[in-house]
Amino acid sequence: MSNPGRDQPILEAENLTRAFDIRRGPLRRVVRSFNAVEDVSFSLAKGETLGIVGESGCGKSTFAKMLATAIAPTGGHVRLHGGGRSLDLAQLDRATLRQVRQRIQMVFQDPFSSLNPRMTVADIVGEPIRINRGTKGAALRTEVGALLDMVGLNPRLMDRYPHAFSGGQRQRVGLARALALKPEIIIADEPVSALDVSVQAQILNLLDRLKAELDLTLIFISHDLGVVEHICDRVLVMYCGRVVESGPIDAVFGTPGHPYVETLMNAAPTLVPGTLAQHTLAPGEIADPANRPTGCSFHPRCRHAGPVCRSDHPAARPVAGTSHLAACHFAGELALAGVGSAADPTS
Ligand SMILES: Nc1ncnc2c1ncn2[C@@H]1O[C@H](COP(=O)(O)OP(=O)(O)OP(=O)(O)O)[C@@H](O)[C@H]1O
Ligand code: SF4
Ligand SMILES: [Mg+2]
Repeated sequence: MSNPGRDQPILEAENLTRAFDIRRGPLRRVVRSFNAVEDVSFSLAKGETLGIVGESGCGKSTFAKMLATAIAPTGGHVRLHGGGRSLDLAQLDRATLRQVRQRIQMVFQDPFSSLNPRMTVADIVGEPIRINRGTKGAALRTEVGALLDMVGLNPRLMDRYPHAFSGGQRQRVGLARALALKPEIIIADEPVSALDVSVQAQILNLLDRLKAELDLTLIFISHDLGVVEHICDRVLVMYCGRVVESGPIDAVFGTPGHPYVETLMNAAPTLVPGTLAQHTLAPGEIADPANRPTGCSFHPRCRHAGPVCRSDHPAARPVAGTSHLAACHFAGELALAGVGSAADPTS
């Protein structure tokens, strides 16, 4: 865990929204669009680890790509703070956008498809340094060697191709590439879900160590509550493109305010890192953001749903304290089971 005490924001999102078009027919005409991410707001403090959790299709990757400027929002803003400046990521000229992309880097889920199989590890890790800083030859190899060393790989292996490495080693290569330009923020999109359980813990520990050593701020995306509980300071829980609950980890998992969070935790046998990935599917059909249910998107799966839930979209309300919010009409009024409560299977 990091030290969230240094609480000046480094990254902020305000009503961040991304619509996608639905196309039909031989001419691929746009028939309508839908919001894959809708109205997401948060503030990330320097040095913090923010977890983003939710089932498949809830908008985690779309959200991450907007933060990393890989795709543009269709609504709202992202602001990056630092060096006495605040930058609105939608309003940047090309030169500033390039600088921002050096400050925010992504690590992807699949270490098999995210590395170019025709490039050596030296080229993969060195490419961003060569392109952005013009470093070449022996100086570049020295930098690549230091990066490989930092992620626990033998620098003598740098002339090999990705296929010579295991999944865990490839994820280390992806991490070395992400660190090459000395970023301030790493967005890790399910960085361990494609790996064997035994390897997951090694990569998580590496991320935790690098975060402390390099003074990084981390956004960690996962559908594995155990992993998020283990390494994050705060969490945003997403459902059908929206944030349904947010706050400090202990508060959200200890006294959840949204029935979806309770459902996710009940579906998880233990909050032990690496054991939950296959088990966090809550009962009922996951809502599709392209066909969002009326009112509260979770109402078809919610055992607490009342008439108001079918008609009115719930705003975020405080559950306990000011920074723990849940978007439920009855937030703070329902007796929901959290970690350590009677309904927790590990207690
Ligand atoms: N380029 C795109 N065009 C159209 N729809 C998209 C596009 N990318 C994502 N979507 C849709 O947006 C929604 C959110 O997808 P996203 O990949 O962000 O979810 P996710 O939470 O990352 O899911 P997973 O856990 O499976 O990775 C889904 O309904 C998905 O089908
Ligand atoms: S608003 Fe209603 S349907 Fe939605 S989570 Fe709360 S109780 Fe359930
Ligand atoms: Mg995803």
